[in-house]
Amino acid sequence: LDDLVAAGAVDLVIAADGINSTVRQRFAGAYQPDVDVRRCRYVWLGTPRTFDAFTFAFEETPAGWFQAHAYQFAPDFSTFIVETPWETWERAGLDRLTAAESVDFCQGLFAGILRGAPLRSNASHLRGSAQWLRFPRVVCASWIHWLEAGRRRAPVVLLGDAAHTAHFSIGSGTKLAMEDAIALDRHLAAGTDLAAALDAYHRERSVEVLKLQNAARNSTEWFEHVDRYARLSPEQFAYSLLTRSQRISHENLRVRDRRYVESLERWFARRAGLAVADDAAPPPTIFTPWRVRGLTVPNRIVVSPMAQYTAATDGTPTDWHFVHLGARATGGAGLVMTEMTCVAPDARITPWCTGLWTEAHRDAWARIVRFVHEHSDARIGLQLGHAGGKGATKKMWEGVDEPLPSGGWPLIAASEQQYLPGISQVARAMTEDDMDRVVDEFVRATRLGIEAGFDWLELHCAHGYLLSGFLSPLTNRRQDGYGGPVAARARFPLRVFAAMRAEWPAHLPMSVRISAHDWAEGGNTADEAIEIARLFRAAGADMIDVSAGQVVHDEKPVFGRMWMTPFADRIRQEAGIATIAVGAITDADQANGIIASGRADLVAIGRPHLVNPAWTLWEAARWGYAGAKWPDQYLAGKAQLDRLIARERAAG
Ligand SMILES: Cc1cc2nc3c(=O)[nH]c(=O)nc-3n(C[C@H](O)[C@H](O)[C@H](O)COP(=O)(O)OP(=O)(O)OC[C@H]3O[C@@H](n4cnc5c(N)ncnc54)[C@H](O)[C@@H]3O)c2cc1C
Ligand SMILES: Cc1cc2nc3c(=O)[nH]c(=O)nc-3n(C[C@H](O)[C@H](O)[C@H](O)COP(=O)(O)O)c2cc1C
Repeated sequence: LDDLVAAGAVDLVIAADGINSTVRQRFAGAYQPDVDVRRCRYVWLGTPRTFDAFTFAFEETPAGWFQAHAYQFAPDFSTFIVETPWETWERAGLDRLTAAESVDFCQGLFAGILRGAPLRSNASHLRGSAQWLRFPRVVCASWIHWLEAGRRRAPVVLLGDAAHTAHFSIGSGTKLAMEDAIALDRHLAAGTDLAAALDAYHRERSVEVLKLQNAARNSTEWFEHVDRYARLSPEQFAYSLLTRSQRISHENLRVRDRRYVESLERWFARRAGLAVADDAAPPPTIFTPWRVRGLTVPNRIVVSPMAQYTAATDGTPTDWHFVHLGARATGGAGLVMTEMTCVAPDARITPWCTGLWTEAHRDAWARIVRFVHEHSDARIGLQLGHAGGKGATKKMWEGVDEPLPSGGWPLIAASEQQYLPGISQVARAMTEDDMDRVVDEFVRATRLGIEAGFDWLELHCAHGYLLSGFLSPLTNRRQDGYGGPVAARARFPLRVFAAMRAEWPAHLPMSVRISAHDWAEGGNTADEAIEIARLFRAAGADMIDVSAGQVVHDEKPVFGRMWMTPFADRIRQEAGIATIAVGAITDADQANGIIASGRADLVAIGRPHLVNPAWTLWEAARWGYAGAKWPDQYLAGKAQLDRLIARERAAG
């Protein structure tokens, strides 16, 4: 390359030298490649068995799950890729087999789907385990390097797998490479300055590539964790597989195959206890009931707990709460959750947070609960919490987490803590006496909650408040039995939970909200969240309401649509407990996909409910579902909305 450039023999070098690109490695300083070698090992085989459709096959062995991706590429031949996590691969002893032996192993394992046809390797030059590869996900910060040699310079531009890779399970690597070539040609042909044309090529293509790489990452992770999904019913397993990249949504899938989606919805509705005739249109999955203990929630939508900072300064909920929660109950959600309601005056986040420590509080809540029960089918849940070291702050819109200028109160936390360094009030570490008192406060609030008539109780162990502070190693540095490994950090939150559960009626459910990820070095990750969920499940929790973060001020969250749902998914599959998904879930299409695929059992909608109290009814109308129950008082509005939507649809 240097010689060619120095001699002035080239104006442009296109480096399309594939996944292991030497050019990319040689100029790594310029391209800044980030190569992530994935968990699975795969072997690329062929077979004379022909498949009439793209076929996935899954086989369980004592060592773990293996999967095959098979598709026909010639009249008499198919590609047959076998893949498994490297740990399974080692446990199965494949690292010690010769190349021929491991082809035999695959042939035996997939004999059923192969119908006796043989498997053949196209890498007979590779010995032993070398034919089993691991897929490298490649991302490059730059695709253009101006190579200087002699007194000349020429651009060396990456294209195709040299620039980026997308896991083969979404089958788009060739498409991306060809689209790169088409775009590069178009920009060069536009006749502008070469550097500008190359920049335009990179700008255009990197956006498209990123979209596909995101989808490919979801798909890769799905295949890396087949064991996680294997416990789903076959119907849900197949749906989960089809929607694994999250590029194909529920409604997207319906456009491709209406009959399939309806059959899945019919199966789901029947499993949820609804009688749906074979020829009747089934309800979307979010409009199926959820039964837990003795309670039936009429649909899967939850109004996520949202602090309103509008209580009287003695903690009493006001008419704001009556209207706010009442409107959301009549707006169609299945479960309306109160904001974090504090168990004592010093448990409040702000002086304007709702409380539940007096009979006056109880009576104000009872009025709201009565309205919800009398005027809607919704159930109403009480979220109880203690602000801990994040207490005595201003209202959210006057300065989130900032300390009150005056009128604050002493704070307690798992360990001594100053949430915002140099700014927040310093909370002192709790003593055993504090713990006894706080348990009593939660129990008192639980009793008052029962008297107020709530249907559901949620313990708030998320977002860095008191109990969340115990769970995270970043905020819990205790040396006694309440600090250390996860089980010890969970001890006090579990003590609170157990005391509440003992008080709360056995026929009513309890959920626990946790932060499934601290988004900070050394903090909790999904692995710890699964352990925490298991502990709460063992203590009698019915559901985990899966949020994330807000535990430390210097967190680095990774946002995106449905960004916390993967945690709800993992906890549900791996801890074996029902979950509530939350976070940037904005339409019924997403919510239906989450419920249908078994990533969660309920979907909590927060901010969209601040904009639209009737979010659920609105979404039902938008997606053409007639079965949602509207208040009689609002039926005239529904009729007009239906007409408007029908007209818009007809106009395309
Ligand atoms: C198991 C598997 C299955 C896949 N299935 C699909 C699928 O179903 N659909 C799909 O779209 N994509 C699929 N892909 C991805 C697809 O194969 C690649 O994305 C695509 O081939 C990339 O094209 P490319 O031209 O960038 O690189 P390549 O196809 O790798 O071409 C690079 C070429 O450069 C040559 N080369 C390398 N170095 C030099 C050098 N120094 N001098 C000269 N030549 C050199 C190589 O020999 C090679 O021919 C799959 C990938 C894998 C691993
Ligand atoms: C104004 C506001 C107040 C909130 N208050 C609470 C709360 O009291 N308890 C809680 O667990 N989460 C609280 N949250 C978090 C929400 O319940 C929800 O998890 C979050 O907003 C993400 O969901 P969304 O993307 O649908 O808004 C609050 C969020 C907002 C926007």
